Amino acid sequence: MTRYSRITGTGSFLPPNRLTNAQLVADLAARGVETSDEWIVERTGISARHFAAPDVTCSDLALEASRRAIDAAGLQAADIDLIIVATSTPDMVFPSVACILQHKLGIAGCPAFDMQAVCSGFVYALSVADAMIKSGAASKALVVGAEVFSRLLDFSDRTTCVLFGDGAGAVVLEASQTPGILASDLHADGKYVGILCVPGHVSGGQVIGSPLLTMDGKAVFKLAVGVLESAARATLAKAELTEADIDWLIPHQANLRIMHSTAKKLKLPLEKLIVTVDQHGNTSAASIPLALDEAVRSGKVKKGDVVMLEGVGGGFTWGAVLLKY
Ligand SMILES: CC(C)(COP(=O)(O)OP(=O)(O)OC[C@H]1O[C@@H](n2cnc3c(N)ncnc32)[C@H](O)[C@@H]1OP(=O)(O)O)[C@@H](O)C(=O)NCCC(=O)NCCS
Repeated sequence: MTRYSRITGTGSFLPPNRLTNAQLVADLAARGVETSDEWIVERTGISARHFAAPDVTCSDLALEASRRAIDAAGLQAADIDLIIVATSTPDMVFPSVACILQHKLGIAGCPAFDMQAVCSGFVYALSVADAMIKSGAASKALVVGAEVFSRLLDFSDRTTCVLFGDGAGAVVLEASQTPGILASDLHADGKYVGILCVPGHVSGGQVIGSPLLTMDGKAVFKLAVGVLESAARATLAKAELTEADIDWLIPHQANLRIMHSTAKKLKLPLEKLIVTVDQHGNTSAASIPLALDEAVRSGKVKKGDVVMLEGVGGGFTWGAVLLKY
């Protein structure tokens, strides 16, 4: 019998400190950085984001989201036999957030590793977990996207610091006799490393290069719009489905204009687009599982719905996962 993988539970967590545009604009003005609620909303669709307290780590956010996903799946932490955490903001250089999360969940023994594909991290992680389940290497995977992106922001750069937020989302992916994950399509092109990166690294006890995010927003925008369409089409073709079969589109939540443009290219009405970027900002690898969990808990995404998840980000990386919820 063919072995498939299926999402059986979702969970998410946002740190309590919610910053509206008005609050951020006031904070930035105090630093001599000029921006406005109007500019941020018009260019990005973002109205608010959450920032973790200084002593809160990526694994803390991942833990809350994971507990909720495991609970929603009707499982105990001890049932999990694979942990993958997609993140670019780990607690430490090493070991992985996945190992720290495993210990915080009170379990031991199962494989645990991080996935580094920046804002595409969650679709990469979900695709890898699906392959491991199909191969028989795992049966009950915990797949998490978690970020404290606020730690990477240059608050003197108004072109980037207004865009990002912190949070975590998680799913439990279980072996199944009926298909959940229908197809996936992953890509990268390393020649675009420089358009979106945190170039610094740790060496000899020092941070070498800038530890803050730098981005060519226009270049990212242009690339994102193109690859989100091509990845969606490639994934639909693999699953032998068409745009008309999509019930919900959940793209990476970076910019509402990019999301609208993707929906338009796929001829999807905006009612099928799940939007959380307005309230979360761009939470990088956490954005898709956060949006999925909100859509499930609000009753939008129901059992049997066909959902297209799409990631795009630093690397340059991009990809899509098509699934039956
Ligand atoms: C970043 C982004 C919102 C900028 O929007 P844009 O329409 O390209 O704006 P521009 O960069 O052309 O800037 C237009 C003007 O707004 C100004 N501006 C930039 N940020 C601003 C801010 N926060 N507040 C006010 N003005 C701002 C610029 O300085 C520029 O002024 P100028 O014309 O006097 O030089 C947009 O390029 C974007 O969303 N790119 C994709 C980013 C993304 O999604 N990254 C993550 C991918 S994972």
